[in-house]
Amino acid sequence: MAIRQIRLENDEILRKRSREVEEVDDRIKELLDDMIDTMHEYNGVGLAGPQVGILKRVIVIDLYDGNLPLKLVNPKIIKQKGEQEVDEGCLSFPNEYAKMIRPAEVTVEALDENGKKVKIKAEGLLAQALSHEIDHLDGILFVDKMIPGTLHYVDPNEEEK
Ligand code: NI
Repeated sequence: MAIRQIRLENDEILRKRSREVEEVDDRIKELLDDMIDTMHEYNGVGLAGPQVGILKRVIVIDLYDGNLPLKLVNPKIIKQKGEQEVDEGCLSFPNEYAKMIRPAEVTVEALDENGKKVKIKAEGLLAQALSHEIDHLDGILFVDKMIPGTLHYVDPNEEEK
């Protein structure tokens, strides 16, 4: 387990499309564990492969709600429904947030860390996080989807909300 370096907003790797994982082997498991550690280190709710410099279709999510963190390989949104307006940030854009519209509900198919097929139905914050992280795998960043004029900086030393 290790903390990996997070790639920041101007890094071109964030704009590249990630490749499918062909086999969930020990290297992928180690990558997923490192991504969990890295996400926790920076208090994020999600992280995608390209953000640690790896162009593979892997994401992790932790909503800190008592459920285990999600580790997903080759995640794909197969259904989405409704809309929610959210205020969103990204570990590659420290302290920056913007408002945007995300689907209210998504259904995602993926492989888990053991290579087993899983289907996740999500709403609210989890639907938002899955949409955000899966976008990363196609080189799409939250600033691409923001409602113009809503980008704002939040001082990490000030209490948010
Ligand atoms: Ni992000």
